[in-house]
Amino acid sequence: MKKYPSHNDEWNQFKVDLREDELIIGDWQVMQAWELPLMKALAKEVTWNHGDILEIGFGMGISSGQIMEYGCKSHTIIEAHPVVAQQAREWAKKQKVPVIVLEGFWQNLIPALTDKFDGILFDTYPLKPEERGMNHFSFIPLSVNLLKKGGVLTYYSDEKLPFRHEHLDLIFTSFKEVKLQYVGGLTPPEDCEYWQENYMIIPVCKLDAEGI
Ligand SMILES: C[S@@+](CC[C@H](N)C(=O)[O-])C[C@H]1O[C@@H](n2cnc3c(N)ncnc32)[C@H](O)[C@@H]1O
Repeated sequence: MKKYPSHNDEWNQFKVDLREDELIIGDWQVMQAWELPLMKALAKEVTWNHGDILEIGFGMGISSGQIMEYGCKSHTIIEAHPVVAQQAREWAKKQKVPVIVLEGFWQNLIPALTDKFDGILFDTYPLKPEERGMNHFSFIPLSVNLLKKGGVLTYYSDEKLPFRHEHLDLIFTSFKEVKLQYVGGLTPPEDCEYWQENYMIIPVCKLDAEGI
């Protein structure tokens, strides 16, 4: 039986095994390389105006790399695991725009953030069984205060068709304008433990010009 961390800080003690095509933390497949088309789609949406980007969860740095490909003014990364955060800092040194890596859990760091962002890309990992498929839910309402007017939140959604109603209700509690985008061409291997569809529906949530 796979072991969830008994509390968030235990996550940080789990062993990190970064391979060419996947990132394993403790017992968990946290990220795999087949997600590239998905990360590319998220990065394209979040860099809509090439502005200031907040990314939560560095993982293998695939989406971070895509954000740089599309271009941004600044890139702030929040990453909880110290080994992954160190990889993010190494990666950051090689980028042409300012990259700030904040090490810690977003739940602890967000309240102290004073900056606002043009785009937020959220892709963490469920650390408790009850967060499976919905680890983004608690962040959605809080994202509004971190976005500039007209800013965009997008994320790894865990959504296929039909899109879950409770998820849509939650999004529309915080945002008035939402695009649901079909990202196809996904090829998760048979042993992928967290996704088996060849597509995912990603929300792109836009804060209107007045803020909500
Ligand atoms: C799925 S990976 C991110 C993958 C990334 N988008 C990529 O393209 O490689 C999730 C990352 O989020 C981190 N993480 C999990 N929970 C977190 C939290 N509450 N706050 C910050 N980082 C978290 C994990 O340590 C892991 O590195």
